[in-house]
Amino acid sequence: MKAITVEPKKPGTAQYEDFPEPDVHEGSVLVEAVAVGVCGTDVEIVEGKYGWAPPGKTRLILGHESLGRVIDPGPSSSLKKGDLVVGIVRRPDPVPCPNCAVGEWDMCRNGQYSERGIKEIHGFMSERWRIEPEYAIKVDSSLGILGALLEPMTVITKALTQVFAAGQRAFWEPKTALVTGAGPIGLLAALRLSARELQVHVLDRAETGPKPELVRALGATYHTGSVLDLDFDPDIIVECTGVGAVIADSIQKVAAGGIICLTGVGAGGVAGRTVADVAAAAVLKNNVIVGSVNANKRHWYKGSENLARADRKWLSRLITRLEKPENFKQALKRMPDDIKVVIQFSEV
Ligand code: BGC
Repeated sequence: MKAITVEPKKPGTAQYEDFPEPDVHEGSVLVEAVAVGVCGTDVEIVEGKYGWAPPGKTRLILGHESLGRVIDPGPSSSLKKGDLVVGIVRRPDPVPCPNCAVGEWDMCRNGQYSERGIKEIHGFMSERWRIEPEYAIKVDSSLGILGALLEPMTVITKALTQVFAAGQRAFWEPKTALVTGAGPIGLLAALRLSARELQVHVLDRAETGPKPELVRALGATYHTGSVLDLDFDPDIIVECTGVGAVIADSIQKVAAGGIICLTGVGAGGVAGRTVADVAAAAVLKNNVIVGSVNANKRHWYKGSENLARADRKWLSRLITRLEKPENFKQALKRMPDDIKVVIQFSEV
């Protein structure tokens, strides 16, 4: 079969190439790939900045935002041939740490977890893949290709769970929420926050393209410019850019008692502002700054319900480009109006 593979930590090694069929040890459910979303993590892996091949191997099959159709459900699963499924990304560490032991692999404490398409297990950018039945999430068939948005939806489902859990520490009635960054994660955050009684605001650099209208369609307000120039102090900030200056501004701007959830992975600092200055703002306002990554089965379960319930037309506008697997290099290139680029392996 064909697969998109890479030699992790070596830039320029990504290829669409012939690869052996998935081994039965990878799971008893055999799946035909339909589509795989591309995200910043894939770009980082291809650029040689992140990623690990399976133990003893040099190449890793890329891709963690999957959607596939069951070809063979295997002996012990409730799945049927033809079901649309998405694969859970992370697997618990083998020790296991206390969190992995109770199924909270997203909160792994020793870093020995593995992740499909990222860390030590092959991903989903291959014509066929296998999965353990307990890690295959069935999606509403009427979602079609929109099922490829489930993985980013689970990431935001977890992040918002963290925000509202942290909110329980004191009396708290949040009224306003700000999302920084109108990429797929930011827009899904805005979608889920709009389902609550909150005034939702989204801030992004883009002044044109599909983002402003997608935000307005949710009844939310779109902003460009600096977080510091907003005329309100948000009770909740979901930070989806990973940009140092936006993070520092968010901590300065958040309301007293407010909660900032960091979901973006970036690098570098902010010239002219020291960590202690930023921290002082958080201390004096009793803020919570919570980092959030990945998702466990509870978030996958809730996330798939949330996706099935969402407005299909709105969701479909998040997928701004479909590319063929042989054009994967094109898929990994950021174009100005891109939101989510999806590599399509077969018809839904
Ligand atoms: C994925 C997560 C993963 C994280 C770190 C993200 O792109 O969505 O599932 O845990 O990268 O590897």
